[in-house]
Amino acid sequence: EKGTYPHYMLKEIDEQPGVVRKIIQEYSNPNGELSIDENILTAIKEADRLYIIAAGTSYHAGLIGKQYFEKIAGIPVEVHISSEFGYNMPLLSEKPLFIFITQSGETADSRQVLVKVKEKGYSALTITNVPGSTLSREADYTLLLHAGPEIAVASTKAYVAQVAVLALTAYVTAQSLGKDLNFDLKQELGIAANAIQTLVDSKDDLELIAEDYLKVARNAFFIGRNLDYYVSLEGALKLKEISYIQAEGFAGGELKHGTIALIEEGTPVFALATQEYVALNIRGNVKEVVARGANACIISMEGINEEGDRLVIPKVHTLLTPLVSVIPLQLISYYAALHRRADVDKPRNLAKSVTVE
Ligand code: M6R
Repeated sequence: EKGTYPHYMLKEIDEQPGVVRKIIQEYSNPNGELSIDENILTAIKEADRLYIIAAGTSYHAGLIGKQYFEKIAGIPVEVHISSEFGYNMPLLSEKPLFIFITQSGETADSRQVLVKVKEKGYSALTITNVPGSTLSREADYTLLLHAGPEIAVASTKAYVAQVAVLALTAYVTAQSLGKDLNFDLKQELGIAANAIQTLVDSKDDLELIAEDYLKVARNAFFIGRNLDYYVSLEGALKLKEISYIQAEGFAGGELKHGTIALIEEGTPVFALATQEYVALNIRGNVKEVVARGANACIISMEGINEEGDRLVIPKVHTLLTPLVSVIPLQLISYYAALHRRADVDKPRNLAKSVTVE
């Protein structure tokens, strides 16, 4: 029930700090250490390559998961859009493990891939929010998101849960492989949960940003580099799906390869700058679009922020920024949709679970 909330989406956005804390709790063993099911751990360690299959927001979480498995655990990963995978299957490695990321566990595009890979005798793990869902039942293993029911069509807390569970799984795998880890993920996830809380408590400011940048906008761009790039894809999807503003997310470096042609006087450009090593480059992109009249909104992070940044998120571990930088984008989309009197929880033409291919 949405209680006093005007929309499920807003309620679900507010639940996100609690979701991260719940995941820490659900995936801690009696000694207080992060852990996952031993059989799943073995399946991941025995694989020579992970194939992440997902759609929409879950695909965006998968792109981040690839970095986690590769950078933390040293396991190669491919990420594929489920609807494409069936007819565009890459050459598979010798011992693949398929990982399906799906909030609902019912997405037909993802299920058709699961059916195909099971026919070929490969193992599959489903990461889902819904115990007993089709993709959970039909896979060999399941990891639950523990986000609680997500009712709004626009996925918010499930995305945060997916990113947290992927980080945790990669971290526990790395520990079990004896990798030298120089951070304590449990502690860092706690810090991220607090940062999410700070942002969901900044609604007034985010409502103002939505008004300043999107009230009369016909289109909007989201740019970022490295992990910020993936979050910009998610920001654009959120905005278009509920506010119907044409939005595009892309890698900052790609601007000059085409999209900059679309920048006009007043075009909103949301630039994420949470990744220290590329912060200068993304700021360079912002200068390029501002010189062409764009209305740029820089969202940076404490420690690497500069004067004039429109929003500064609290400092979190560099790998966990996607958990936090997505929150302002969700809220900006929410308020942009409200301004346009769009049906926030049930956007036109969309269903919560897409059960047709
Ligand atoms: O239930 P799933 O995670 O498999 O759903 C995948 C997409 O349909 C879903 O993420 C969709 O893109 C959302 N409406 C995004 O907010």
